[in-house]
Amino acid sequence: MLYQQIKPFPNEFLWGGSTSAYQVEGAWNKDGKGLSVIDMCDHPAGTADFTVASDHYHRFREDVKLFAELGLKAYRFSIAWTRILPSGTGTVNEKGLDFYHQLIDELLLHGIEPIVTMYHFDLPYELEKTGGWNNRGTIDAFVEYGRILFEHYGHKVKYWLTINEQNTMILHPGAIGTPKGGRLPSNKELYQQNHHMFVAQGRTMRLFHDMLPQGKIGPALNMTSMYQATSRPADAVAAHNWETIRGWGFLDLSVWGRYNPLFWSYLQERGIEPVIEQGDMEDIQFGRPDLVAINYYSTATIAASMGDASDVTARAGDQQIMLGEQGVYRAAENPYTEKTKYGWVIDPVGLRLTLRKVCERYGLPILITENGIGAPDVLEADNTINDTYRIDFIEKHLEQIRLALTDGVDVIGYCPWSVIDLVSTHQGYGKRYGMIYVNRGEQDLKDLKRLKKKSFSWYQEVIKQNGRCI
Ligand code: BG6
Repeated sequence: MLYQQIKPFPNEFLWGGSTSAYQVEGAWNKDGKGLSVIDMCDHPAGTADFTVASDHYHRFREDVKLFAELGLKAYRFSIAWTRILPSGTGTVNEKGLDFYHQLIDELLLHGIEPIVTMYHFDLPYELEKTGGWNNRGTIDAFVEYGRILFEHYGHKVKYWLTINEQNTMILHPGAIGTPKGGRLPSNKELYQQNHHMFVAQGRTMRLFHDMLPQGKIGPALNMTSMYQATSRPADAVAAHNWETIRGWGFLDLSVWGRYNPLFWSYLQERGIEPVIEQGDMEDIQFGRPDLVAINYYSTATIAASMGDASDVTARAGDQQIMLGEQGVYRAAENPYTEKTKYGWVIDPVGLRLTLRKVCERYGLPILITENGIGAPDVLEADNTINDTYRIDFIEKHLEQIRLALTDGVDVIGYCPWSVIDLVSTHQGYGKRYGMIYVNRGEQDLKDLKRLKKKSFSWYQEVIKQNGRCI
């Protein structure tokens, strides 16, 4: 649709930036923090581990000052469950509680709205040892963890996100690594874990509304749109298959509290449907979200399954690179889009489309909690970092958000991934996302100094103008 008049960004638009605890904080074993599954994983050879990360734990005041200089209205970060409850349940670690009090206070002092993700991949290892999400005890542990967070921070934090990218954890269980000596769960186990996470999320959102009626809470899923490779009807069905199994199946449960029929048939057909205990669906249904958060990086193009092993490409898949699944879909190339150095499709228009679909389906406010481009940024001799590709990427996505706003979608904020360099889930420190450069190598920690990239001053101006220059 073409418009004569493109709507402006709303005045209260949350211009933000995003990170997650284990990728930015470091201090993996400091001040009483317990081990998480991330701490127990082998990392890809030659890449940075998460022990120091960007040392945000020790430098958060300096970082928040830079966020304020950038003009951020909001900062989306996650709380490390193991800082609050080192064993996942039981005794609360006062020093961990205190760290996030200080971080939140510092943000508020600078007029930055904190947006808290409760759980971003880093399940406490003590819970993993007793079965992790396969164990229904983890549901109770999560709800109790939520109660502690709401009790301590609820009066300061309005926006909350429950679980980051539950769909990535289920569809790419290897993406965040497997604890040493562990094995990848079977699909049957994975969808049981998935179910338990939904029960935990539902109970937590219900508790949240009881405790903090003024607050806003929602899930944060990795959402995208699937294009059909050709106008062949079978390709359209395949694209719909995968869009549902990868995205809507998860979001329908979060928002509507029911299993999507196609998603359920897919699970049943394979004998991997979860055991649903009495009361589970009520728990899921009563936990209605106030908003939907989406992480958007790229789209995928899909063709009909050939019905044999040729459906699955030999490429190494990750959360954005589709592999195909026998009888369900086959990954295809899109001749109209480009890719990042890491093979992720760059598709700003796909963001507008995805926003429209999420809006039409659920009618809830949408917060974009991740979007960005990973690149091996170069620090020049004069200490500049000329990440023009990042400016281009974000600018084009913001243009599409403006169009989506004009389409009538209620987008309440944009938190690009990431505001500051951090450790990528797969490619260590070589693949950077930030607008603030952190001076370290994969293994060489150098001085961890913060430097402003070219994208920093560009985003600063965008925020200053409330996006009028977009
Ligand atoms: C998202 C995750 O899927 O993608 C982040 O929520 C992650 O944790 C981001 O860092 C980018 O992925 P990667 O693999 O390039 O770090």
